[in-house]
Amino acid sequence: MAAPRTPRIPKPRTPKPRVPKTAQTMAAGQREISISEFFTKNRHLLGFDSPAKALLTAIKEAVDNSLDACEEAGIPPRLFVEIRPDRPAKLGLELTSVEEPESDRNGGKAKAGGRSGNGTSRDERYRIIVEDNGPGIVPAQIPRIFGKLLYGSKFHSHKQSRGQQGIGISAAGMYGQLTTGEPVTIYSRIAPDQPAHRVRLVLDMKKNEPNIISDEQTIWEKDHGTRIEITLTGSYKRGQHSVDTYLQQTAIANPHLHLTYKDPKGDIFEYPNATAEMPVEAREIQPHPYGVELGVLAQMLADTKCRNLSAFLKEEFCRVGPKTAEQILETAGVPERKNPRKLVQDDIQKLLDAIEVTKIPAPPTDCLSPIGEQLVMAGLKTGVEADFYTSVTRPAAVYRGNPFQIEVGLAYGGQLPGDELARVMRFANRVPLLYQASACAIHKAILGSNWRSYGLQQSKGALPSGPLVILVHMASVWVPFTSESKEAVAHYPEIVKEIKLALQEAGRQLQRHINRRLREKDAFKKQSYIQKYIPHIGDALQEILLLSDPEREEVITVLTDTLERSRKL
Ligand SMILES: Nc1ncnc2c1ncn2[C@@H]1O[C@H](COP(=O)(O)OP(=O)(O)OP(=O)(O)O)[C@@H](O)[C@H]1O
Ligand SMILES: [Mg+2]
Repeated sequence: MAAPRTPRIPKPRTPKPRVPKTAQTMAAGQREISISEFFTKNRHLLGFDSPAKALLTAIKEAVDNSLDACEEAGIPPRLFVEIRPDRPAKLGLELTSVEEPESDRNGGKAKAGGRSGNGTSRDERYRIIVEDNGPGIVPAQIPRIFGKLLYGSKFHSHKQSRGQQGIGISAAGMYGQLTTGEPVTIYSRIAPDQPAHRVRLVLDMKKNEPNIISDEQTIWEKDHGTRIEITLTGSYKRGQHSVDTYLQQTAIANPHLHLTYKDPKGDIFEYPNATAEMPVEAREIQPHPYGVELGVLAQMLADTKCRNLSAFLKEEFCRVGPKTAEQILETAGVPERKNPRKLVQDDIQKLLDAIEVTKIPAPPTDCLSPIGEQLVMAGLKTGVEADFYTSVTRPAAVYRGNPFQIEVGLAYGGQLPGDELARVMRFANRVPLLYQASACAIHKAILGSNWRSYGLQQSKGALPSGPLVILVHMASVWVPFTSESKEAVAHYPEIVKEIKLALQEAGRQLQRHINRRLREKDAFKKQSYIQKYIPHIGDALQEILLLSDPEREEVITVLTDTLERSRKL
């Protein structure tokens, strides 16, 4: 037997001497980062982290924009959405839909790249098409809207809209460009007497500027509207987080929308509008003084065209009249006639402190456009088969100076599965939120409500179970999303409280329905029990009163009819 070898202990390596960097050498590596470069690396922040989610996000951005544009122009929206497989099955890949994997059901943490377990790639190239009958886009604006991140009309406006950031549609185009190299194609026409334009462009990621490949006038049958075509790598799935679910829920929260959807297999789904009425127009308001932050106030003072502080307060904020302005400035100890641009940091802080202690009326609520109790129910009825529906629209409330309104709809019973957890539909400014449920204030408020007191089952810290669909809608001039991908509402205590109050109100109505059903069930049981004994009562009476057989039959009929009548009562 060979002698055991003594293990060789490796000699410690002498570490290379550190070459410390100097401020000068570090300076050589410091440079500006373009917004597009940043989001190319951090595309998950915009909702492009998995192929399935990317397909949904791109469609969502375009549909949201189309609905916003139609509503702003007062046009009842008619939208066409298509997902067209762009690379036919010549590579031997089946273009059938696949069920979503567990990771997607758990909040969309599917791994990017999308290799399926059997080694075939589920990622396909799709051409997504979204066409609207909105006001169109003036030709000069098309390149910047689709080829520049952070360019839009809604960021600075204080009114409810689906878009907020000015990043959505250019990011969708950029994702398409990154994954397939294809430019975005836009058709747009602003009036019947104006030519339609067809523009193809890419985004220069270093400069965050559009690069126009072609811009030509074209024939288009539409009088006005916009059509967007993006080719991208994605994964088409059915299930809770699918494009199909997003579109179904969009139809529920937007009963004025007429939608036609063509899926990758070519099947066409029509969602006709449930109402011909357009939503109430949301009015633009100025920011409310409560909740304004020091830096924001300083910037507003520097940017204002007003010549004195009193005018600044009255014109740049809502709910500040001459009296309130006077009171704020008196408390702050700053002269009314002072030029806003001449205020020093100390004065700005004093102004902010004075705002906090001054009683200012709550912001107006006509900047909001809730769905309304009737239409929440109408929407639920078109999308969910149940036997009880209820809805609640809360009065407007305020968080950080921003008005918001909460609506809740419940659907119960009927065809809904009784042995599963309740299905939750979350909406922000009428847009379905399909991902990041557990990070969302809506989810938190549902979990934090006591559903047992409404006659449902609920394990600790879980959703209630039973044949129930819970719809929650938050309408606000600024929805505080937890990230740029706009998937979850941040946990502001005011928002969670309002959602809970709306759930309680709707829950109590559900409780009354469940109790009524229980009473009915109980009464039915008792009556069925009595029914069983009616023939025996007939026999006993026949014996005691010496009734003939037809008389016995008559007694049985009378007793049965009386029982039936009491059941109907
Ligand atoms: N279909 C459309 N019809 C008319 N205007 C549009 C259309 N799509 C986009 N726009 C205009 O382009 C702008 C930029 O759209 P984009 O989606 O990038 O940002 P946004 O909607 O303002 O905010 P968000 O990033 O939150 O979506 C919009 O603000 C709107 O003015
Ligand atoms: Mg948008």
